[in-house]
Formats: sequence, structure tokens, C-alpha cells
Amino acid sequence: MTKVLVATEKPFAQEAVDGIKQIVEKAGFTCMLLESYTSKQQLLDAVADVDAIIIRSDIIDKEVVDAAKNLKIVVRAGAGYDNIDLDACTAKGVVAMNTPGQNANAVAELVFGMMIFFVRISFSGKSGTELRGKTFGIHAFGNIGRIVAKIAQGFGMKVYAFDPFVSHDVIEKEGVTSLSTIEELYKTCQYVSLHIPATEKTIKSINYNLLSMMPKDAVLVNTARKEVINEDDMLKLMTERKDFSYIADVRPSKGAEFEEKFAKRVLFTAQKSGAQTEEANINAGLAAANQIVGFISKGDRTFQLNK
Ligand code: 3PG
Repeated sequence: MTKVLVATEKPFAQEAVDGIKQIVEKAGFTCMLLESYTSKQQLLDAVADVDAIIIRSDIIDKEVVDAAKNLKIVVRAGAGYDNIDLDACTAKGVVAMNTPGQNANAVAELVFGMMIFFVRISFSGKSGTELRGKTFGIHAFGNIGRIVAKIAQGFGMKVYAFDPFVSHDVIEKEGVTSLSTIEELYKTCQYVSLHIPATEKTIKSINYNLLSMMPKDAVLVNTARKEVINEDDMLKLMTERKDFSYIADVRPSKGAEFEEKFAKRVLFTAQKSGAQTEEANINAGLAAANQIVGFISKGDRTFQLNK
């Protein structure tokens, strides 16, 4: 019988788990659960004889792929797939997929939750600032960037975007000013929100040169990946510029140093929280389960990443 493992170090909401089970069992498959695991060995043991795996930010490297002797498909319930070794999957004939867009709204809402908390001085009662009328730059206009644009417009911000893979027309249709270069975005916007994936090209790409272009009272908002930031550059810049702040859902590797040096100018979540809503868990989890059933039953390869 086909075995589907849900391996989530950061568990889904119960309703999402129930929905996944229902979809998997309705297809005649068995559903297994490995939640809140604390060692890689637990994951290696759990994957030993499964046909399919649903993951979140869980690491699927060569060792895991090799340990999963019957594995046919792994689905990342979410957008970013920098946690999957696609080459290792391809080498073993394993299909890798993501579920693009399914948790985008949750991440977009968190961007503004964090911004409001920050500009209102952590709801301390001290006088803060407002978002209305401020310049807001969206770095990458994908599923999250598009929702972020709508919310920013609701706040009355002046919204700009840069995305070399999306046409000016598509961006401008959303009432957003489309900029042609990344430099223009960072020069123009007091707030910049990152929505780029972590790839060979983007890792450490948010560097001193770019950040130093941002206007007075600059705020960088990162709900993407910590790896895209050059942390040493950011530390240098924040030492030089007392008006620069950094908000991130992804605690930097040097988080303690940031907090120690710039306590009032940084805000980091204790745990990655962007996609952690009931709705996002249900959307992404159920999509992943349906994609597995579609692939195993009908060979549907929509959203395959390693083509
Ligand atoms: C994503 O890439 O979809 C988000 O970063 C969510 O990650 P998570 O499933 O670990 O919360």
C-alpha cells in the first residue's frame, strides 16, 4: 500500500493534518505522521519505506533521499524549496514539488503586522510613526508581493516594485509603480519588503551597496530567507547609520549581535511565523496531499520543480 509521510518539525494546525489524512485515505493510501521531531535520525527512520513525503521547511538532503528507498515524490507544502536537494531527488527519480501561492496571504499579513508593531514602538505607549504616505518597495512581485501591494495601498503608502521576471504592465495594472532596476527600488523606498527566494544568485545579494542607497529612516523587512542578507554588511551599515532598521521573520544567524548592538532598531520573530496560520496550513497542506494523490494515481506533474 502507498505510504504518505507528513514530516513537519514545525507542525501544521490540527485541521490541516485532519484534511491531509482524509485526502490520503480516500485515495486508498496510508497516512503517517512525524511531527515536532528533534533529530535527523527520526526523519531518516520515518522515511525508510514511504512512497511520498509532505514537508515544510524540513531538510530533504541526499542522506534523506537515499534513506527513503521507495520514495517517488516529495512535496514542500509552501513556496520556497531551498530545503530540498533537487539534484539528489532527480538522481533517484524522485519528483519534487512545491505548492506556490498557498501560504502567500499569511506571509503578506505578517509583513504589516511586524511593521505596525515596530513603528508603534512595540505598543509601548511611546509616540511612533504612521505608514500612510511613506514609500514602500516590493522586491519581487510574485504571489506574496502582489498581496503585499494591495495591503500597502490600503494603508495609503506609495507603492513601488522591482521584479526582472514580471513585466511592467502586470505590475502597473495593480496600481504599483514598476521600477527598472533594483538600485532605483532601494533609492526610492523608505520601506523595502523582500520577497525573493534563496538561490545561488540571491544569497547575500542584499549587501552594503544596495542597503546604503535607502533613504532616511530606512526599514528593511525580510519575511523571505535570512540567507539573502549579507549580515556583515548589514551590521556595518547599521553601525554607520543610526536611522536604519531591520525587521525579519527569519532571525539572522548573527541575531544576538544585532539585538545587542541595535536593540531598538531590530525586530525578529522568535520562530519563523510567516506561514503559521490555520488557513495557510490548510491551503498548503491539502494542496500537497492532492498533488501527491494526483501524481501517484494519474501521473500529474503540475508544480514539479526538478524537470
Ligand atoms: C515558504 O517558503 O512557503 C515559507 O517560508 C513557509 O515556510 P514554513 O512552512 O516553514 O512555515
